[in-house]
Amino acid sequence: MDGVRVKGRVCVTGASGYLASWLVKRLLLSGYHVVGTVRDPANQRKLAHLWSLEGAKERLRLVRADLLEDGSFDDAIIGCQGVFHTASPVVKPSFDPKAEILEPAVKGTVNVLRSCKKNPSLRRVVLTSSSSTVRARDDFDFKTPLDESSWSSVQLCETLQIWYALSKTLAEKAAWEFCNENNIDLVTVLPSFVIGPSLPPDLCATASDVLALLKGIETKRFLIMINDPQSLSINNGIPSVRTGETEQFERHGRMGYVHIDDVALCHILVYEQDAANGRHLCSSTVTDNNDLVSMLSARYPSLPIPKRFPQLDRPYYELNTSKITGLGFKFRPIEEMFDDCIKSLAEQGHLSLQTAPS
Ligand SMILES: NC(=O)c1ccc[n+]([C@@H]2O[C@H](COP(=O)([O-])OP(=O)(O)OC[C@H]3O[C@@H](n4cnc5c(N)ncnc54)[C@H](OP(=O)(O)O)[C@@H]3O)[C@@H](O)[C@H]2O)c1
Repeated sequence: MDGVRVKGRVCVTGASGYLASWLVKRLLLSGYHVVGTVRDPANQRKLAHLWSLEGAKERLRLVRADLLEDGSFDDAIIGCQGVFHTASPVVKPSFDPKAEILEPAVKGTVNVLRSCKKNPSLRRVVLTSSSSTVRARDDFDFKTPLDESSWSSVQLCETLQIWYALSKTLAEKAAWEFCNENNIDLVTVLPSFVIGPSLPPDLCATASDVLALLKGIETKRFLIMINDPQSLSINNGIPSVRTGETEQFERHGRMGYVHIDDVALCHILVYEQDAANGRHLCSSTVTDNNDLVSMLSARYPSLPIPKRFPQLDRPYYELNTSKITGLGFKFRPIEEMFDDCIKSLAEQGHLSLQTAPS
C-alpha cells in the first residue's frame, strides 16, 4: 500500500471478464476497495488472476451475483459509492438470442440499477456500453464522424439480427430511462473493439477472434465481428441479413479499436470527474480491415495474417471522441495496443512469434 492513497468502495459487475479484470486491476492500483461480482466465487481457476492483482488481498472482495436473479446484486452494491456495471453477455447466440443475450443484458442492467437505487451510499454508476450502440444505423452522413448523439437503430438491428448491438442499445436505453426516473447519476462508456493483454486464463470472444486473425484462421469470424455491425452488414447502403459465418461478411470494412488499459482508465476518469456526464465514446482509431492487416503483417512478418480481404464498396465512418479527449484523455495508438496484445498472447503460449516486430 506504500504510496497508494486509499479511496472509496466501488463495485465491478462481471469482475472476472476480460475488460472488468483490467478495470479491477486499475481500481486496486489507484487505491479503491473493490467488490467484484462473479457467477461462481468458488471457481479458483477462473478467479486466480484477480487474487494475484496488486492490492487484491487487502482490498478485493468477490461476491456471487447473477444478472437474471432479482436482488442478486444487493449484497455487492450496498455500501459502495460507485458501481461499474460491465457484466453483459458477449456471445453469439446459438438458438435463442432473447434468452441468451437480450434478457441478461437488458433485464440484468435494470436488476443492477434496482440494487443501486436501494444504496444510500451511491454517488455514480458507470455503465460499460459499446460503440455498437452508435453505429448500427443506415441513415447518417458518412462524412460527419459519429458522436454520442447517435443511437443505433433498434429496427435495423432486429432486421439484421445483430443481437449484440441490439442488446447493448436496449440495455443502455433502459439504463438511461431507469436512472432518469430514479435520480441516479449515470455515465456511460462506449468502447470500440477492445485490444490488449488478457488477464483471465481463458480467452473471451474478443481475444479469441483477434487470435484467430493473427493465426490466419477463421478470418470470417473476425469479419463478422459483433462489434461492428454497421460496416459488416451494409453494402452500398443495402442491409444484408446476418446469419452467422456467411460469405458476405467476409467483405466488410472498418472497425474502431481501443487499448484495454485506456478503456479501464476512461471508466475511472468518468467516475472521478464530476464534470463527466452522459455518454462517452471510447476509441483510438477507426481503420479499414485491409489497413489493419497491412500494418500487422509488416510488424509481424512471421505471423500468417491474411494479406488482404476482398475489396467492396462499403460505408465509411469515423468516431468523434472529442468528448472524452476534452476531459484530458489521450488514447494510445493502434500499433501499441496490438503489440501489447500480441506480446501477451505469445507469453501465454497462444501464439508463437519467431521474429520481433520491426
Ligand atoms: N470486448 C470488447 O471489444 C467490448 C467492446 C465494447 C464493449 N464491451 C463491453 O464490455 C463488457 C465486458 O465485455 P468483455 O469483452 O470483457 O467480455 P467477457 O470477458 O465475456 O465479460 C463478460 C462478463 O459478463 C458476465 N456475465 C455474462 N452473463 C452474465 C450473467 N447472466 N450474470 C452475471 N454475469 C454475467 C460474464 O461472467 P462469466 O465470466 O461468469 O461468464 C463476464 O464476466 C460488456 O458489457 C461488453 O458489452 C466489450
